[in-house]
Amino acid sequence: MTASALLPESLRQDFPILAQHVHGDKPLVFLDNAASSQRPEAVIKAMVESYACDYANVHRGIHVLSERSTDAYELARSKVRAFLGAAYEHEIIFTSGTTAGINLVARSWGDANLRAGDEILLNLMEHHSNLVPWFQLAERTGAVVRHIPLTEDGRLDLYDLDEYLTPRTRIVAVTAVSNTLGTINPVRELARAAHDVGAVVLVDAAQSAPHLRTDVQELDVDFLALSGHKMCGPTGIGVLYGRAELLEAMPPMFGGGSMINRVYADRFTSADLPAKFEAGTPPIVGAIGLGAAIDYLEAIGLDRIHAHEQALVERAWEGLSQVEGIRLLGPRPELRAGLVSFVLDRPHAHDIAQLLDREGIAVRAGHHCTQPLHDHLGITASTRASFYLYNTVGEVDALIAAVRDVRDRFKPTGRKRRRA
Ligand code: ALA
Repeated sequence: MTASALLPESLRQDFPILAQHVHGDKPLVFLDNAASSQRPEAVIKAMVESYACDYANVHRGIHVLSERSTDAYELARSKVRAFLGAAYEHEIIFTSGTTAGINLVARSWGDANLRAGDEILLNLMEHHSNLVPWFQLAERTGAVVRHIPLTEDGRLDLYDLDEYLTPRTRIVAVTAVSNTLGTINPVRELARAAHDVGAVVLVDAAQSAPHLRTDVQELDVDFLALSGHKMCGPTGIGVLYGRAELLEAMPPMFGGGSMINRVYADRFTSADLPAKFEAGTPPIVGAIGLGAAIDYLEAIGLDRIHAHEQALVERAWEGLSQVEGIRLLGPRPELRAGLVSFVLDRPHAHDIAQLLDREGIAVRAGHHCTQPLHDHLGITASTRASFYLYNTVGEVDALIAAVRDVRDRFKPTGRKRRRA
């Protein structure tokens, strides 16, 4: 680990929530960032100011507050466009989160484009939100779900890709970073292969956009979905990026205000992008908060954030791998993002998380919404520590020491059971 890769610890002061003790005198060590990150003061302030000074509904009122609110909402869209390297602002649709974005594509694009026998290409490391909407689409249309196999160390096995990616494949849906294994997937390579057979590509960027620089044009993907709350932004706001010509051809998902051009007694015509997909009052202040989060992340730099997390994950990997009875999930540190999931021979993941919590360390335990992956790995649950820009080497060391202690407490005693 090179110290120069690390971000200054002083940036923790930007996050008021981190400066607390829990369970009495234990400093909070927040390592549950893949579930939801914390927000800096700048994001909280932007949202409070919006509600306190500039709030009104957008795109509706001809009055000063509505104009201010509309300007701030649309400014947030332009920040997202730049953050994702998209060509046009109307390719940026505000949603409630990654799940909503994926469901929108599965419903709107999927219903319009898939027929019985068409294929949807997935893989077993996907989050439930990038599996279930496709299963539902398959149920509605008679399309067939196929999976790219995984390697032993938890990467996509692209060796026989031609076998899975066929002229019948209509869409490849893939996560850029696995929320359980930490694997960074080769999205660009997959997109190229998918386009060669005429398929479109959707990327679940929930775990990548907060940590790695994302450029939708460079990746050449057709759809990409992300969540604000995992990248220092508020909950209830997300983004769906879609290539303009695809979004233009898709029917609207929800009907209501804002998404129409004209409504008659018995029919309607749709608004242009992006309004077509933003029915009703949108998450105005959420979008403004997300814009502030993007400003914050960009000021630090995504490449520096990634280097910082890489240093932390290398240290965690090395330290945890020394713990007796541990199984670390996923590939080696250089192929992964800043999270580590593991299983101990004893105790159970939930007990580990509970015992770590008593030491002030917040992690996630369970199946992390990846039950098919856990089935594939032959486990029911795992414990996950996920890092972000404000985590420190000291916190990683505290995690390693606490996991070692937990295992020591549950160590087999070696006493033989008496025969009955
Ligand atoms: N998708 C979030 C996680 O992986 C909730 O924890």
